[in-house]
Amino acid sequence: MSTQARTSSNKVTINTLRKLYNTDEKITAVTAYDFTMARMLDSAGVDIILVGDSLGMVVQGEKTTLPVTIEHMLYHTSCVTKGVERAHVMVDMPFMSYQSSFDLAVENAGKLVKAGAQSVKLEGGEEITELIWYLNKIGIPVMAHIGLKPQSIHSMGGYKIQGKSKTDADTIIEEAKLMEEADAFALLLEGIPLEVAQEITNSVSIPTIGISSGPHCSGQILVSYDLLGANPDFKPKFVKQYTNLNETVTQAVASYCQDVKSGQFPAEHNSFHQNLVMVKTGSQ
Ligand code: KIV
Repeated sequence: MSTQARTSSNKVTINTLRKLYNTDEKITAVTAYDFTMARMLDSAGVDIILVGDSLGMVVQGEKTTLPVTIEHMLYHTSCVTKGVERAHVMVDMPFMSYQSSFDLAVENAGKLVKAGAQSVKLEGGEEITELIWYLNKIGIPVMAHIGLKPQSIHSMGGYKIQGKSKTDADTIIEEAKLMEEADAFALLLEGIPLEVAQEITNSVSIPTIGISSGPHCSGQILVSYDLLGANPDFKPKFVKQYTNLNETVTQAVASYCQDVKSGQFPAEHNSFHQNLVMVKTGSQ
């Protein structure tokens, strides 16, 4: 079925995603943080809209995702879900919303679902297997995020490609299998060599969604601002910019400023007239 035809069909559920995976059709995913962007991505036919904790960096201007809180995620989830009719809405559980206690993790995942999430994404490995299993049991599907885990930036020593050596690659491959056994419905593979991503994709029976992990995954995700070229200072090779939003917006706003300064805008046709209908008063 074409992307166009699927655009007019019903909501994308985890069953839809499984069907795409089983028919070898690639799964598309993009991040959104607000109503307007979510509405545009949804009408473009994207399969998954992720309310990513990358919002810390691209919306809040932070250096990492670590300052993002569950309250931030709830707020942005409620904005995004209002703009989405078809796409599957997945939401990141932010740093320390699931690491300190099992009960807190379950409670926070539940809050995200109440705010409109259809599934949640958790970064981790062995330490989150029990949580994934339980969330799944209570009706909250989980995507497990492995490889480069931005919430572990300090223990990784920076945003570095993971699994370059045979030993590190084997650890990630083992982690992927553990996540599948724990009942994760999909894997997000970030920042791993394409050979490792391919081996994972071939050795699990759940979809793998890649970012900076090569072409062999079951699908691909990008941060919306990156694919739209919003940040002129961020052009890593794993990103393909489909437009230059930075240039388009800068030029459009500069034209607006010029028009206002020169009196070209607003013009008469952008304005409203006084109501000239005379109202009869008294005995006149
Ligand atoms: O938060 C995020 O945007 C992510 C990316 C990997 C897409 O998790």
